Amino acid sequence: MSVKDKLDLNRIPSHVAIIMDGNGRWAQEQGKMRLFGHATGVEAVREALTAASEINVKHLTLYAFSTENWNRPKEEVEGLMDLLVKTIAGEVESLHNNDVRLTTIGNTNELPDACRFELQEAIKKTSKNKGTNLILALNYSSKYEIRRAIKAIAADVKSGTIGLNDITDELIQNNLYTAGIPDPELMIRTSGEIRISNFLLWQLAYSELHFAQKYWPDFTKEDFFQAIYAYQNRERRFGMISSQVNDNS
Ligand code: FPP
Repeated sequence: MSVKDKLDLNRIPSHVAIIMDGNGRWAQEQGKMRLFGHATGVEAVREALTAASEINVKHLTLYAFSTENWNRPKEEVEGLMDLLVKTIAGEVESLHNNDVRLTTIGNTNELPDACRFELQEAIKKTSKNKGTNLILALNYSSKYEIRRAIKAIAADVKSGTIGLNDITDELIQNNLYTAGIPDPELMIRTSGEIRISNFLLWQLAYSELHFAQKYWPDFTKEDFFQAIYAYQNRERRFGMISSQVNDNS
């Protein structure tokens, strides 16, 4: 029996975010190159996306490349960019046929030309799809995203377009890359590491966090369902007390 059968389909999170961690260690522990881990990680991306689509998760955000990742050895960065180009080009048809919409968050203008080109094509081709919105966080930094929002808002205050009292949570949200997308109810990180690593710092304020021990290349559909099941068995109190959130009267 799959954990999927135990899920309450009326309480599926609308947005799940994942830090796909452990590709390098997975490969190195087998005496292989780190890039082999990233390439195998693409299989796990397929698993997570299929699982999310099957249970109707509306938005799936994957942390694919952080601004800090540029500091890795040149061969690894080039290999990751190459993998991204090939994966997008190779998967776009399948994404489209499965009604998946591809979008990105992050400063994608700074990605190599080939990468930007494949992304643009895939984003355009899948833009009208109504299934899961696959959000790739690419050249993404949450601190940068927040700084960018603050600058945009400060410019509007300076020009007199808005006043200080117009700065609300909603206005800030509207100036983030994730404008219009609900905050993730659930964030999953693989590989046993327990930190946020500059990922969606504003958006994860009330998210449930799930830390899986497995390295990302080993992550399966069943692991995804397991994380949803664990989420459904948490009590989300949003700062209130238990009897308040459980009082349906
Ligand atoms: C973290 O593992 C993983 C990454 C930095 C890259 C993730 C990329 C993929 C799964 C492939 C491409 C993805 C898409 C969406 C096409 P790590 O290298 O930090 O592992 P480590 O902590 O063991 O070193």
